[in-house]
Amino acid sequence: MGKPVLGILASGRGTNLQSIMDAIAEGQFSAEIGLVITDNPKAKALERAQMAGIANICVERKKFAKREVFEQSLIAELRKHHVEHIVLAGFMRILSPVFIREYKNHILNIHPALLPSFPGAHAHRDVLAYGVKISGCTVHFVDEGMDSGPIIIQAAVPVMDDDTEDTLAARVLKQEHIIYPRAIALYLDGKLKIEGRRVFIKE
Ligand code: GRF
Repeated sequence: MGKPVLGILASGRGTNLQSIMDAIAEGQFSAEIGLVITDNPKAKALERAQMAGIANICVERKKFAKREVFEQSLIAELRKHHVEHIVLAGFMRILSPVFIREYKNHILNIHPALLPSFPGAHAHRDVLAYGVKISGCTVHFVDEGMDSGPIIIQAAVPVMDDDTEDTLAARVLKQEHIIYPRAIALYLDGKLKIEGRRVFIKE
């Protein structure tokens, strides 16, 4: 049997993409990254894919009148590259049911907070504003809501009195780079069982 084929969607610097590429190179799990897609022509993720010899493409949202048509074009690209599993790695767009249904239960995301607290695009700012003492990161399946799908794994980090958004983000990011490859490995190994909102890990 061939290796499972991942499609990675990223909008920015791509450190999570890098950690996944590194995990594959180190043999943490067996998979092929069939395509990296970004919606941002300046995304460092594109460069990282190029450097690693991975197919990559930028599909800009503004070139399409409707979100659904934009997503159909993403799906067409992913199909072209035989992608079976979607990994969102800092993809700054909410996917509509058109996309979600195409890959139902086959889309993973990482969020830089302990969901269901602090969903959305400004997690670290919201964490500091609220004053919680512990934050972290969450890998979850993607459903049709925002950061609301069943949770696979989480890691916690302390929030320090002198934290800024940047220092907190850096502490959380270290954990992201550990738990995202771990979650992908469990998922690809067929060790995750979704029952309602709960995801059980069958080792
Ligand atoms: C990460 O903090 C991730 O949790 C969030 O977006 C950020 C992406 O960072 N979804 P990078 O592009 O992987 O460095």
